[in-house]
Amino acid sequence: MGIRVAVAGASGYAGGELLRLIAGHPDLEVVTVTGHSTVGRTVGEVQPHLATYADLTFQDTTSEVLAGHDVVFLALPHGQSGSIAAQLPDDVLVVDAGADHRLTSEDDWRAFYPGQWHGAWTYGVPELPTADGKLRTDLATTRRIAAPGCNASAVSLALAPAVAAGFVEPEDLVAVLAVGPSGAGRSTRPDLSASELLGSANAYAVGGTHRHTPEILQNLALVTGVRGSISFTPVLVPMARGILATCTATLTPDVDEREIRAVYAEAYGGERFVRLLPAGRFPAVEHTIGANTLLLGLAVDTAANRLVVVAALDNLVKGTAGAAIQSANLALGLPEAAGLPIDGTAP
Ligand SMILES: NC(=O)c1ccc[n+]([C@@H]2O[C@H](COP(=O)([O-])OP(=O)(O)OC[C@H]3O[C@@H](n4cnc5c(N)ncnc54)[C@H](OP(=O)(O)O)[C@@H]3O)[C@@H](O)[C@H]2O)c1
Repeated sequence: MGIRVAVAGASGYAGGELLRLIAGHPDLEVVTVTGHSTVGRTVGEVQPHLATYADLTFQDTTSEVLAGHDVVFLALPHGQSGSIAAQLPDDVLVVDAGADHRLTSEDDWRAFYPGQWHGAWTYGVPELPTADGKLRTDLATTRRIAAPGCNASAVSLALAPAVAAGFVEPEDLVAVLAVGPSGAGRSTRPDLSASELLGSANAYAVGGTHRHTPEILQNLALVTGVRGSISFTPVLVPMARGILATCTATLTPDVDEREIRAVYAEAYGGERFVRLLPAGRFPAVEHTIGANTLLLGLAVDTAANRLVVVAALDNLVKGTAGAAIQSANLALGLPEAAGLPIDGTAP
């Protein structure tokens, strides 16, 4: 028997992706799945693509059901993890894919989320080049991990090296993202329906209202000590999963593309899952689908005096379940890349 895992919210998109990736993990084994409206049904009925765990039955999402495992992944709507996690034993590794434990500022939480703030856990983006360089060490010793928001990880990793090096003005960051509707979960919202989305593209949470905004600013502050400001606009497009984030920022004086590429190479050159493409090449979402990979392409727009960084990732893998497993691997003392695919799909 491997390391015993429970996945709460396993009937949803993020939870389903956790099951899919753990099925290929050499050390982890899912023994318990929980849901809400699907309690009593099997994985095979609700997630028919997941043959490995087809016979597991969804149980109630309670701390009693989740206790007694080595690792608990929580993939619940925001606001649902905090009280359950608080009742789990301290020695259990708990990884929250939801937002409940990401924000270090209670004021930020109150400004963007309803309900109680539950405090922040160690952030599950090992590659984030924080100023103190301690994130991997912290992940290796913690029992509580907050996996990232999918948009937040794309934008933060795209901009962090340039912001950290002082190559761009942290007060003038802009990110416009093409996002697939799976980012909003298995919801029945009308704007996510095929009839409204196919053949169209819809901006939402416009004007600084998206919940990932404070998470991005928190991440960039970890990198530089400066909170900065960002205009962040997601646009729903008709692809089931994936994010293409186009991030731009005003350049500081006398910076050229060669220097910028050098700092990105230094930040990510040793990383398995974050890759900067050569000059003149830009990522496509398709190349990251199914993979725990973030692809970056960058250019300097000299006429506009802006750095442009394009980032692509699979919101359900590098944007959530993959990041959660990568971080759990560190906390469990396993190879960081265990069970995580690096190659995407095409076409
Ligand atoms: N989707 C993404 O790309 C993505 C990326 C990063 C982070 N996340 C985060 O991951 C979490 C799950 O997102 P998702 O996209 O997987 O959502 P989802 O597809 O809507 O799944 C939600 C899951 O939570 C369960 N659930 C619903 N209401 C509940 C309640 N009141 N109490 C307990 N369980 C409840 C559902 O169970 P039933 O199906 O049985 O009702 C389902 O298993 C969210 O916090 C989200 O922010 C998602």
